[in-house]
Amino acid sequence: MKKVITYGTFDLFHEGHYRLLKRAKELGDYLIVGVTSEEFDRSRGKLNVIDSLVTRIENVKNTGFADEIIVEEVQGQKFRDIKKYDIDIFTVGSDWVGHFDYLKDYCEVVYLERTKEISSTQLRNRANPILRMGIIGTGRIASRFIPESHLVSGISVTSVYNPNKASADKFAKRWDLNSFGGTEAFSDFLEYVDCVYIATPHEHHYDYALRAMEAGKHVLCEKPFTLRAAETEALYTYAEEHGLVIMEGIKTAYCPGFNKLISIACSGKIGAVRNIEACFTKLENSLSRELTDTKYGGSFTELASYTLLPIIKLFGVDYEEVRFDSIKDKNGIDLFTKAHFRYPNGMATATCGLGVKSEGQLIISGTKGYILAESPWWKTSYFEVRYEDPNNIEKYSDVFLNYGLRYEISDFVSTINGNKTNDFKLIKEESIAISGIIEDFLSMNR
Ligand code: CTP
Repeated sequence: MKKVITYGTFDLFHEGHYRLLKRAKELGDYLIVGVTSEEFDRSRGKLNVIDSLVTRIENVKNTGFADEIIVEEVQGQKFRDIKKYDIDIFTVGSDWVGHFDYLKDYCEVVYLERTKEISSTQLRNRANPILRMGIIGTGRIASRFIPESHLVSGISVTSVYNPNKASADKFAKRWDLNSFGGTEAFSDFLEYVDCVYIATPHEHHYDYALRAMEAGKHVLCEKPFTLRAAETEALYTYAEEHGLVIMEGIKTAYCPGFNKLISIACSGKIGAVRNIEACFTKLENSLSRELTDTKYGGSFTELASYTLLPIIKLFGVDYEEVRFDSIKDKNGIDLFTKAHFRYPNGMATATCGLGVKSEGQLIISGTKGYILAESPWWKTSYFEVRYEDPNNIEKYSDVFLNYGLRYEISDFVSTINGNKTNDFKLIKEESIAISGIIEDFLSMNR
C-alpha cells in the first residue's frame, strides 16, 4: 500500500485545497492529512486564521479524500510523522517548491501545481477589506510596530502623523508611508486611514484617541492608555456608543504565554492566590525623555502598566489600599517605585525601575504552590509551577516572537472584523483601574 501525507492550515476551505487533496489522494492508496493546530499557526507567526481547528478538520473530512486526519502541532513533526506512519510520498502545493527537499532522504517529495488565483489570504481579505492604519508618533515603539504589523494579515500601515513635519517625513521615508506633519494636517491624516495606533508620549494619548474616534476611526493606543481613570473611561464610553473598537496596547496582555500563565493561576493548581510580586526594571539613559520629563516621566508611568497587569487580572480592581514608595532623583522623578496593594484576601507589590536594576520576575503565591515566571516575564515565554516538594516542578513554555506586538495587532484586527472577542485579555475595567492607579501615584508624587 502506497501511503501519502500532506499538510496545511486549510482555513476558509476553498477550491485550491480541494484540488490539492484530490491529487494527493491519487498519488497513492492511503492519504493522511495534517491540519495545523491553532497554537502551531500562532507560533510560526500565522495569525488571523479564521476557522477553528474543528471546522478546518471537518472541511478536510467532508472532501472524502483523507483516510486519516492528524493535527500538526510542532515544528519538526513532519519528519517524525513520515517515520511513524511509514510514508512513501510527502506532497504539498508548488508554493513550497524546494522547501521540503530535506525530506527526500526519507520518502518521495512531490510538489503539486498550486491552483491559481485562490488562497485563504485572498478570501480573508475579500471578506474584510484590508484596514488602512495610521501611526501617530514616530518614536522607537512606532518603528518596532511596522515590521510586526507586516506579519498580521488584514492590516496595512499606510500613513504616519507627527506634529513635527520633519520627523513625520523622515519616518515616512524609512517605512514608505504617506507623511502628515504639522497640527493642521491631523484631520487630513485621519481621512486616509480606517484605524490608528497611538505611539506618542503618554499625556497626548487621550486627545489623539478622542479626535480619531470623533472621525470614526478605531484606536489601538500604547500604554498607559491615559493618566486619569476618568479619561480612560470616557474613551471606552465613546467607543461603545459609536460602535468603535478601542484597545490599550499592553503587549503582555495579548501574548499567548501570559494568557496561559493567568489561566493556570486561576485554575486552582496553586490553590488560592495570596501574594503577587511583579518586577520590571530597565536602566535608562539619564538624558532620555523618561528621566527628564518632570511632569510625566519616571519609572512608574513608564512601566507600571506591565507590573499592575497580573495584579489587576488576578485580584481584580477592588483593592482596599495602595501605598507607594519611591526613590527619586534631584528633580523629583522616580527612579524606582514600589506600589504595595492590600486586597481582602491577598497582597501584591508592583516594582518598577529606570534607575535601579533588579531581577524582572513575576511570582504568584498560592495556598498550594507558586508560579515563577522568569525574567523577562512581560514577554512570557517560560514559567514554572512549584510546590513544597522541590522535586515537583511543572514547566511551561510558549512563544513570544521578536517585539511581541503582533499579538495585540492581530487581536485588534480580529475584533474590528468581528471574528473574535478578545475582551477578556484586557477588559475595560482593568484598563480604567490601571489608569487610576497611575493617576493616584502622580497626584501624590508630582
Ligand atoms: N494550495 C493549493 N492551491 C491554492 C492554495 C493552496 O494547491 N490555491 C495548497 C497549498 O500549497 C498547501 C495546501 O493547499 O499544500 C494547504 O494550503 P494552506 O496554506 O492551508 O492554504 P493557502 O490558501 O495557501 O493559505 P494562506 O493564504 O493562508 O497561505
